[in-house]
Amino acid sequence: MIFDQPLAVGGLALRNRLVMVPVATGKADARGQVTAALCEHYAARAHGGHLGLVECGHHFICEEGRATARQASIARDADVEGLKREAATVHDQGVPVFVQLSHAGSAATEALTGMRPLAPSAATCPGAKVGHPLPRPMSGDDIALIPELFSAAARRACAAGFDGVEIHAAHGYLLNQFLSPLTNQRQDAYGGPLAHRARLLLEVLAAMRAELPSDYPVSVRLGGCDYLPGGNAIVDAVKLARMVEASGANLISVSGGMCYYGRPGYEDMPGWFADSSTPIRQAVGVPVLLAGGIKTGMAAEVLLEQGACDLAGVGRAILNRPTWARRETTKLRAASGRMEDNAG
Ligand SMILES: Cc1cc2nc3c(=O)[nH]c(=O)nc-3n(C[C@H](O)[C@H](O)[C@H](O)COP(=O)(O)O)c2cc1C
Repeated sequence: MIFDQPLAVGGLALRNRLVMVPVATGKADARGQVTAALCEHYAARAHGGHLGLVECGHHFICEEGRATARQASIARDADVEGLKREAATVHDQGVPVFVQLSHAGSAATEALTGMRPLAPSAATCPGAKVGHPLPRPMSGDDIALIPELFSAAARRACAAGFDGVEIHAAHGYLLNQFLSPLTNQRQDAYGGPLAHRARLLLEVLAAMRAELPSDYPVSVRLGGCDYLPGGNAIVDAVKLARMVEASGANLISVSGGMCYYGRPGYEDMPGWFADSSTPIRQAVGVPVLLAGGIKTGMAAEVLLEQGACDLAGVGRAILNRPTWARRETTKLRAASGRMEDNAG
């Protein structure tokens, strides 16, 4: 079976193909510091070492990009001590761990940050709640700060012992707001054609690559297709994936753009973004992760066998059942044994 085969992501060897994708815990303290409860949350899900990789939920890279109360911070050097505990709790179970880095852009919460949210243009995401404030369009100086904020956060992740980082460029967050024509109406070098809308994401990647060891894994969670009229289409997602690979990403984690992580009408189809991940996988040489609606190990195995992805990402099934990976890998190995018996 494919799920049990090892895979290299940058310089990191994963034991198998099952990944816990980032799911924000809401368990940091009010300042965003790592708590014992947050560590216990990940320890319970990594327990027994049945997953190939755990990706911790989004951490804000600066106060202005903070999405929610109790979101964890990676914005300050003082956060590194707590982040070391977060990484170690997963390592103690024998599982490698990434941390996701994010700036929420227009989806930041002014009541928490005390700052008017920033975005490429004065446009909220199509999925924003009614009454969400219009963001302030970013100046050239605002934009110039973003790559350094991400690369400083990546340096902290590396110092804290995480095995890799993931750039959040999906689900309507800042970098996704630049990518999508639904939220980016800029007339300058960061707006207009796809290559211009991708410029900030690629600058973030370049800034990180310049800071990090050359084989240190950098993943991009790519909301390349919006699945909405007037938004980015699958063909754009494929072009973006190529650009991201060329700028040094070691893993592309395919999710939704302005439709966020769900796909209305496809709730019963495990891997509901497979129509994006499959052509992306054919177009790039780095591994591709697919998440969305995968609830069983067998569903993951089928998507791997179909060539929809190299890694199968699972969110809510693991959130709701911390022992999911043990149960599902046991079932898959039993099924694999039965298949061999029948063959033999
Ligand atoms: C409560 C919750 C929190 C989430 N937090 C994040 C996050 O921090 N970063 C991210 O990229 N996706 C986040 N997601 C999306 C998940 O990573 C995943 O893509 C989504 O849940 C679909 O996969 P699933 O059907 O296996 O749950 C979150 C989803 C949920 C339900």
